[in-house]
Amino acid sequence: MKLVKPKKVLKIILGVIIGVICSQLFANSASFCAPHILVKQEKLEDDEVPVGEPGLKSKNLLFVGVMTAEQYLTTRAKAVWDTWGKEVPGNLLIFSSENSTSNDIPLVALSGIDDRYPPQKKSFTMLKYMHDNFIDQYEWFMRADDDLYVRTDKLEELLRAVDSKKPFFIGQTGRGTKEERGHLSLDSDENFCMGGPGMIMSRETLKRIAPYIEECLVNLYTTHEDVEIGRCVKKFAGVSCTWNYEMQVIFYHNKSGSSAYSGNLKTKEVHKAITLHPVKTPEYMYNLHTYIKGLKVQEVLHKSQLIHRDIASSMLELGFRASSLENASLGTNVPLFTFKQGAQAYLGDTSLLGKPIGINRYRPTALRDVLEWELISKTLYTHRDLNPRKRIGSSLKEGLGDVTRELMELINQYSKQRGRVIDFREILYGYWRLDPLHGVDLILDLLLMYRKYRGQKMSVQVRRHAYVQQTFSGVFIREIINQGPDSRSETNLLGKVINKISDNFPPLLPFSRDVSESTVINFLLPLSGRYSTFSRFLAMYEEVCIKNWESTRLYVILYNSEVSPSDYQQTWRLINDLNLKISKAVTSAYKKHHNVTVVLGDPNKPFSRASALQRAVNILSRTELVLFIDVDIVFDTGFLQRVRQNTVLGKSVYFPILYSLYSPKLLNIGLQTYADTSFSYFTGNQTDSNRGFWRQFGFGIASMYKMDYEELGGYNVKITGWGTEDVTFFDNIVSKHSHKIVRCVDPGLIHVFHEVNCDSKSLDAGQFTMCLGTRASTLGSLETLQRLFEKYRKLFRFR
Ligand SMILES: *[C@@H]1O[C@H](CO)[C@@H](O)[C@H](O)[C@H]1NC(C)=O
Ligand SMILES: *[C@@H]1O[C@H](CO)[C@@H](O)[C@H](O)[C@H]1NC(C)=O
Ligand SMILES: *[C@@H]1O[C@H](CO)[C@@H](O)[C@H](O)[C@H]1NC(C)=O
Repeated sequence: MKLVKPKKVLKIILGVIIGVICSQLFANSASFCAPHILVKQEKLEDDEVPVGEPGLKSKNLLFVGVMTAEQYLTTRAKAVWDTWGKEVPGNLLIFSSENSTSNDIPLVALSGIDDRYPPQKKSFTMLKYMHDNFIDQYEWFMRADDDLYVRTDKLEELLRAVDSKKPFFIGQTGRGTKEERGHLSLDSDENFCMGGPGMIMSRETLKRIAPYIEECLVNLYTTHEDVEIGRCVKKFAGVSCTWNYEMQVIFYHNKSGSSAYSGNLKTKEVHKAITLHPVKTPEYMYNLHTYIKGLKVQEVLHKSQLIHRDIASSMLELGFRASSLENASLGTNVPLFTFKQGAQAYLGDTSLLGKPIGINRYRPTALRDVLEWELISKTLYTHRDLNPRKRIGSSLKEGLGDVTRELMELINQYSKQRGRVIDFREILYGYWRLDPLHGVDLILDLLLMYRKYRGQKMSVQVRRHAYVQQTFSGVFIREIINQGPDSRSETNLLGKVINKISDNFPPLLPFSRDVSESTVINFLLPLSGRYSTFSRFLAMYEEVCIKNWESTRLYVILYNSEVSPSDYQQTWRLINDLNLKISKAVTSAYKKHHNVTVVLGDPNKPFSRASALQRAVNILSRTELVLFIDVDIVFDTGFLQRVRQNTVLGKSVYFPILYSLYSPKLLNIGLQTYADTSFSYFTGNQTDSNRGFWRQFGFGIASMYKMDYEELGGYNVKITGWGTEDVTFFDNIVSKHSHKIVRCVDPGLIHVFHEVNCDSKSLDAGQFTMCLGTRASTLGSLETLQRLFEKYRKLFRFR
């Protein structure tokens, strides 16, 4: 086994880069290949890579006739024209019945033709029209249906490789279904090209049949239009439809009927096909087109990367370093890049994209820069988490799927010449690491099935090691203007974000501090007892919302507490004091602010968070924004911005992930007054994992419009006490699919620790278990707990 120098490996990359393939495997296929680092790759000569830009060649290659009917002019036919129709290397016209009209699409209304099915007359007349008007202008003629998608660039590649001067009839060969066989009047060696996936004739074929089209039309044996065209072609051009297994793949017909191409498009079939059939719904056609465009973008990005590598390695030979190429010159007044960095036409980024591949392309200079690998097996093993064994997340799973599919496409690129095909079975294990600047490295051990079908036939399981490098190509920004009720402030925020990313963008709109302009946030706070915590909350509310002219209202849903009855009166007093301050204020923010409203809880029922919130929701109007909050929460103005930004009427609901502080007692710090929890206190400390944690599991704090709250089912008021109502509600929203759920960490939202009392009597079994879990996980970090354990080890008794 020979080590390949990076430069050689450079030639063998596709969208992902494969470093290794075990080629000796097949010499002795019974034995497994041992793992090794960079092993010889199957050789690929430079001249095998297709070069040249097909778009620059003459555009008289292909004429496409699309058959449609009057009722589909604005739907299917329009979708064909809007998507692949405009990209045909030649010309495309849409043929319909005599009274059809359209301003949107290039339409031919065939005189004397109606929309009756089967469309035999329409089809033959279209062929005649193509011949009479275009026979000398195009080399190839295609008959297509309005539910066909064509990858025009791949079709061009195929057709340029075939001699159009010879009679050809290309398409997916059909011989009829089992029931039809014997009834199609076909001889045993006769076939036809199936109509659905499209059929293609060379100029010579169309020339030969054109004079006999009338004759074919009066001598129909069946009602099948494609069978009759096949018969006509066979009789007068002397050719049958291509006998070739590959045609099933190239002219792909999906058997799912009208639901074909409605789901996941990342399939081997879609990637290999040139024509895809049947696309019955225009939405699927547009969707498919976007997907295919995405593949194209990927391909172009990859080409760009190859060129960058070539430039970097060539310049290296000339004595330049990749990092200093932006100003390099090839001679006097011959700069390598004519445009300077920052200009739109600048071609560079060689230092990023020009890096040669190789496991050592990223070189850490300090210990802390070393990238750790994570092990992928049945589960993921990672050092990033307290629990090293994790489920493989869906994003990683999808990424691995993409990588293996591309790998297999690469491995099978020359299967036909070699008389073998290799199928993917599974990833036995793998390693991966992420370098945010450069990309992803993957080492995969693949289990494959090797089948040789030429010479000595055999199938055998084999293993291959693949080294894959995916390079990040930089950041692209796409601006979407959201048309929500709060679109204005979203534009502001977007403007701010974009300004932050690049100083070259002009500011979109000045950021407005005018309270009357922004959406009112209605805070709904259920409360039972907890007077001292509430006084902290109210002080914070005054500080953050009132003094900052924020457009908010506070509703306190107040219940009597059996545990501390005096809290009720004290809470009332506190709220009245603040309301007095607001009503007496002459100037200042207080004057502008709304009173704090007290909603009385139902005195005949025990406290329940769900029904408390529901009481307050009831008094609001349907288009108001509600925010469900807890008394333990501390927040800042940034949080208010994010609530407004992420909550869109009829579209999205916001479930922030909050930062939860551990017990201050265990940390020996006092956290009693509001000032103790103020944000300046935490700045820079939030990543201190001993102080608190992001509470991934916790859905109590949420904002949405009342209308959406009701539409999504709301809280289940049958749940009493504290507990599962928020989780149940969240699950409901997820399963409804009707609204976007914004779920992300909110750096302006802190949950201050408070002692949780879990009462097995008042809570049901599920709530009790959850309560115990919450209590244990909020106490302290693992490190703190371990320290305590070490310190007081003697106090623990072990059995
Ligand atoms: C087209 O319109 C003419 C005049 O209205 C009518 O006679 C003819 O039947 C129509 N053709 C079709 C195919 O409907
Ligand atoms: C094609 O049809 C099969 C079932 O017949 C389905 O599972 C598959 O997802 C379909 N492919 C596409 C791309 O829609
Ligand atoms: C290239 O030239 C520009 C402007 O003259 C300068 O700012 C930049 O630092 C130079 N880059 C390198 C890599 O020398």
